[in-house]
Amino acid sequence: MKRSKINELMKDTVEFLSENQIYLPKFAYWTLKEWKSKGNEIREIIDNQLGWDISDYGKGDFSKIGIIHFTLRNGNINNPQARPYCEKVMVMSEGQKIPMHHHRTKIEDIINRGGGLLSIQLYNSTEDNNLANTPITVFTDGIERTLEPGGIITLEPGDSVTLKPEHYHTFWAEKGHGKVIIGEVSTVNDDYTDNVFLEDINRFMEIDEAEEPLYLLFDDYEKYLNVV
Ligand SMILES: [Fe+2]
Repeated sequence: MKRSKINELMKDTVEFLSENQIYLPKFAYWTLKEWKSKGNEIREIIDNQLGWDISDYGKGDFSKIGIIHFTLRNGNINNPQARPYCEKVMVMSEGQKIPMHHHRTKIEDIINRGGGLLSIQLYNSTEDNNLANTPITVFTDGIERTLEPGGIITLEPGDSVTLKPEHYHTFWAEKGHGKVIIGEVSTVNDDYTDNVFLEDINRFMEIDEAEEPLYLLFDDYEKYLNVV
């Protein structure tokens, strides 16, 4: 993806979230110059992968396969007891989908915080990371539900579902209902190691750097900040 496109998506996301009275922490808006002026006090932002995360999963068709995440808080996978939780806010445009995946260790609640409708398709995972042909049991806002393999749940604003590591899931914003604001409350998250995709997928995109970043993605920290 071109850096100019990432910058545009960030601008649109900030505007859309603030129209919905959701505000990001100050570091979401630091310029490259501000990032470079910081010292060791921002170690946790970098080490715990806080911040912007935009992906087209290497497919190059962001309007169909893609999502915008912002990690608001997170512990560290190397010491998960110190802070065992993570919170993200995500935005999906209608018709957008993320690839089928499950997590190695993360338990996550996926929450429709407002806007459109969010549909989630679910399967159990087999031991060798394929889709199981068995009924799947999940909790939606504390209510136990059992679905056929590949069953779909549609979350309206306010609704949520709890996904365990063995639950394969893909989700999308239903067409005709606008953008969705998605919350994620989970155990500690490490996006470099915890995702298991059904297809061979690139979690992080190649970026064509024709202009300077408006704000940094967390995957940029190493490249732009000489992080050790
Ligand atoms: Fe997930």
